[in-house]
Amino acid sequence: MKIRAYEPRDKEALRNICSKTAPSFDTDKKRDALFAAYLDYYIDSEGEYCFVAVNEADIPIGYVISAPDYDRYNARFFSKELPYSGKLFRSDPRIWLSLKATAIFVRKLKKRYPAHLHIDILPEGQRMGIGTALVDRLREKLRSEGVPGVFLICGAKNEKGVNFYRKYGFKEIKKLPGSIIFATET
Ligand SMILES: CC(C)(COP(=O)(O)OP(=O)(O)OC[C@H]1O[C@@H](n2cnc3c(N)ncnc32)[C@H](O)[C@@H]1OP(=O)(O)O)[C@@H](O)C(=O)NCCC(=O)NCCS
Repeated sequence: MKIRAYEPRDKEALRNICSKTAPSFDTDKKRDALFAAYLDYYIDSEGEYCFVAVNEADIPIGYVISAPDYDRYNARFFSKELPYSGKLFRSDPRIWLSLKATAIFVRKLKKRYPAHLHIDILPEGQRMGIGTALVDRLREKLRSEGVPGVFLICGAKNEKGVNFYRKYGFKEIKKLPGSIIFATET
């Protein structure tokens, strides 16, 4: 297993990982929302802050994707120039609204933790240290650019996710209805 920077040729493999690790998004419309909310913006617009774990054939089996500055992400994601917000609104207004509302919860923490991330590993690659290696690599990149911290929001019932962030050393910053905000210094 090797960790390397994301490259545009990885996009389909990342879509595959994203949908396989979110099986409840099981129709084309739901997958459109999934990609618009949690994948495409990051790899198209913040690719420098995205890393992949690849197998011997150089095919991604896991990724960490991120945006280093929440305010910039929020302004660009919801701008008219980029397609993501419009696509998301058409395919799933509830997720659109929840992303919009996230800005309120993040208001207090974004100074200390301006970056945020999403991470997914194919089931066959899980529990082998890949998630830990990907977060290490991302933190190194953020640290080298003076970004002091990174947060994420995890479903409270996502046992793997919650255990992973706790074991890694993320702090539980805030409990929201049904989810938890975790954060760590870089
Ligand atoms: C959460 C996830 C990214 C963790 O990545 P990973 O490569 O499997 O994690 P690691 O192998 O680095 O595990 C580190 C620690 O996390 C915890 N952990 C990871 N998988 C776990 C599981 N299935 N059950 C319980 N704890 C788990 C353990 O404490 C583990 O340390 P240990 O193996 O020494 O006990 C991965 O399981 C995943 O992609 N899950 C599906 C998608 C998802 O939930 N993404 C996060 C959304 S917020």
